Amino acid sequence: PLVTVKELLDKAEAGGYAVGAFNCNNMEIVQAIVAAAEAEKAPVIIQASQGAIKYAGLDYIVGLVNIAAKNSKIPVALHLDHGTSFDQVIKCIREGFTSVMIDGSKYPLEENIALTKKVVEIARAVGVSTEAELGKIGGTEDDITVLEKEAMMTDPEEAKFFVEQTGVDSLAVAIGTAHGQYKFDPELDFDRLAKIKSLVNIPIVLHGSSGVPDKDIEKAISLGVRKVNIDTNIREAFVKGVRDVINKDAKEIDPRKILGPAREAMTAIVREKIRIFGSSGKA
Ligand code: G3H
Ligand code: 13P
Ligand code: ZN
Ligand code: NA
Repeated sequence: PLVTVKELLDKAEAGGYAVGAFNCNNMEIVQAIVAAAEAEKAPVIIQASQGAIKYAGLDYIVGLVNIAAKNSKIPVALHLDHGTSFDQVIKCIREGFTSVMIDGSKYPLEENIALTKKVVEIARAVGVSTEAELGKIGGTEDDITVLEKEAMMTDPEEAKFFVEQTGVDSLAVAIGTAHGQYKFDPELDFDRLAKIKSLVNIPIVLHGSSGVPDKDIEKAISLGVRKVNIDTNIREAFVKGVRDVINKDAKEIDPRKILGPAREAMTAIVREKIRIFGSSGKA
């Protein structure tokens, strides 16, 4: 069935594990994520970015995930990843998303608070859960110095104030991870994470989690991370799956023979992640 992210993260908080939030943008990815969650008997969050919505169409994303959730015994949530405007959030809520992220991290604190507060008020009225971002989670391609990186990280006291002011359900924090493929293993600021968790009594979300060593993910979960976002690892598995088939037989022209193995490769990596997050058997 389709559920909210809040429901899943409340259980994860009580159980001390994290729920995987996997990005989708087509049918094979949605099917791979759900097949993996079913095989692991795990709750799962399927999320779509604005780019994914633009690519597939909002109605297709909702249609695919609704069918997957309806046909499945495991709880599935549909979440907007990095929504950057009030309009986008409202469109997703209207189409049936059960959770939305409003990412106001590019704005000054007061503006981020005002935008987040507005979204929380409306989402809460219709039973949709919310995620916000404080600090800036950049990309691995961003050319930034160590000092700049430090300045982008979430300030614990500010996080406390932000959560009190907005009433948001979960908080994405910048503690050293980045979106995309890392050139070197990232260095996570665990002291900062622990401080944030001690001041903020809601589930913490880790973005940019592809490429973070398993032991660091596990440590972050032990310190309060309850939602772990994975996109890049799925993309890598998809493309490797496609390449493997084509490299073996350059004459293959049946899309099913190319995308079928890619789908299996994605299922395998999602299963692996679910086990690391500790959500296996929690459905
Ligand atoms: O946080 C970013 C996600 O990996 C989605 O990326 O905006 O290219 O769809 P995208
Ligand atoms: P990765 O692509 O690094 O896994 O990050 C995904 C993410 O944070 C989506 O919001
Ligand atoms: Zn992200
Ligand atoms: Na990453």
